[in-house]
Amino acid sequence: MTSTRRPQDADQLRDKVREGYTRVALDDEALGRADEAARRIGYSEAQLEAVPDGANLGVGCGNPTAIDTLRPGETVVDLGSGAGMDAFLAARQVGPNGRVIGVDMTDAMLAKARENARKTGLDAIVEFRKGNIEALPVEDESVDAIVSNCVINLSPEKERVYREAYRVLRPGGRIMISDVVLERPLPEAVLDSIDAYLGCVGGASLRGEYLETIAKAGFRDVKVLREGSFIDAISFDDPPVREAMERMQITVEEARGFADAVRSLHIFAVK
Ligand SMILES: C[S@@+](CC[C@H](N)C(=O)[O-])C[C@H]1O[C@@H](n2cnc3c(N)ncnc32)[C@H](O)[C@@H]1O
Repeated sequence: MTSTRRPQDADQLRDKVREGYTRVALDDEALGRADEAARRIGYSEAQLEAVPDGANLGVGCGNPTAIDTLRPGETVVDLGSGAGMDAFLAARQVGPNGRVIGVDMTDAMLAKARENARKTGLDAIVEFRKGNIEALPVEDESVDAIVSNCVINLSPEKERVYREAYRVLRPGGRIMISDVVLERPLPEAVLDSIDAYLGCVGGASLRGEYLETIAKAGFRDVKVLREGSFIDAISFDDPPVREAMERMQITVEEARGFADAVRSLHIFAVK
């Protein structure tokens, strides 16, 4: 897939993403801003109260309604499960006869998620596995639904991610993905910035290419169920956002100038 970003070695890029999200996992100050960030992208008060403290890191870009459609007894995989926010919400939906597998490559995220699972007793339903979403540690045709919240944009190999999603789903299984796409290429300063990459913007693909990748992996009925502006959901008052923009030498006005190019999509498709 041609991303608007210049190609780089996939493993090196994954290492940078892992380092960046290790810092996020260990940043206790971020927790103070996380609930507000989650409200901005649509999580309800009831959902925020239903997950253990520390599971929400405020790093998603949507997904609450996807989780609402999960049914009791289903097996669900969460790609890039972070500290476990959506995996825990999914566990409440699928109930004691269901199963949720969160997959993440960052040890600090997995440690948080597993601790949260133990604290809540949800570890009977939810399990967190270490792995890359490009090579899922999950059996063929064993899953009913795949959810993912603001993660696939971070993968330098999006085709592999969707092929893996297809492999592990049962026939008729579905994906419900929140992710960031671009309507047009972004300025060089943004594309060259690791901050922008970690912030889920720099690695995002053009919308048409992204949706085509899903279809090429074999999925049918690829639909965008909802969408919104990703940048409008960001708070420019958050210190990490301000600092990243300073490093990119981009003003708030300039960022707002390309806000319409960065969209957060909620995508549905069936195997
Ligand atoms: C933006 S955070 C989202 C976390 C979670 N989905 C949420 O909404 O809170 C991205 C997460 O994806 C993980 N991640 C990024 N690229 C990955 C990859 N290629 N394989 C596995 N995990 C990955 C990171 O470690 C991080 O925990």
